[in-house]
Amino acid sequence: MTAADIATVVDMADLPMQHPRAPASVAQARARFFNSGNAFNVKLPEVPARLFASPPEGRYGMFDCDQSRALGCGFPATTPLMLARYVRIAAHDALLPLDVCATGSVWYVISGSGSLTGAVDRLTFGKGDVFLLPGAPGYRLEAGAEDVLLWTVGNEPQLAFERAQPAPVAKATIDAVHYSAAEIEHQFALIFSSGTSEETSGRALIFSSDRQAAARNLTPTLTLSFNTLEPNTHQRTHRHNSAAITLVVQGEGCHSVVGGAVCPWAPWSTLVTPPGAPHSHHNAGPRGALFLIVQDGGLHYHARTMGFEFLEAAGDR
Ligand SMILES: [Fe+2]
Repeated sequence: MTAADIATVVDMADLPMQHPRAPASVAQARARFFNSGNAFNVKLPEVPARLFASPPEGRYGMFDCDQSRALGCGFPATTPLMLARYVRIAAHDALLPLDVCATGSVWYVISGSGSLTGAVDRLTFGKGDVFLLPGAPGYRLEAGAEDVLLWTVGNEPQLAFERAQPAPVAKATIDAVHYSAAEIEHQFALIFSSGTSEETSGRALIFSSDRQAAARNLTPTLTLSFNTLEPNTHQRTHRHNSAAITLVVQGEGCHSVVGGAVCPWAPWSTLVTPPGAPHSHHNAGPRGALFLIVQDGGLHYHARTMGFEFLEAAGDR
């Protein structure tokens, strides 16, 4: 752009991206310049609030809950920093190799049983178990005597955004952790035998580990919470800057309201709650609801940007 052209520009916001005038090297030639009028007007697409159904019976393999096209990113992503997937493996079959390109990925066993081998000690799992894996290539997931259906969430998009790789397992921030269904049930019994205060956000079990206990997180980035909702109750409308990915574990007659839109729950469906969206969960059914929620909450706690806020007073219906 010539000086004459610049003289005709009224507002610096109208200046196009600037190149160096006389670069003396390839590295200098790569420089680009914006200004305070035109650098901050990039509008990224909103994170869609969406329900993903679990894969139909008889379909095997890995099923990404992928919103990358809507998000405008070049790698699979459910939210900008997290990816949710379903994995179904036929009886006595194996998923091999399974490369976990994330700091960590959390797994929930929807049905069936099986085993995992690879970068960590062999782990055998059954229905209702939760386990956490550090990122590593070459895991082997094997189904037992019946088909196994798993749900998993990791921070693959966070690493893909920077083209980062997981640390070697020996240097990872997390170890493999196994939360058995029986232990989860025991922990719920303990929670339900205790009282709550007005400010408590429902009864939920929060998963952590020996190495992450100080932060009360699952991984440095991710939080995992098993939430409950008793019949004819709702979780008050609230918002937070973390995105949430929710698996419906038990939710007959339940729905969520996300950003004003009603999202009816279906068995084993995955609900995406965009960052900052006001949302509430409602149980009009006859049984207690159970839902597993992964959030990029660790990242927001660390950045001091969680911004949790109730938008509805306690006791409102
Ligand atoms: Fe929430």
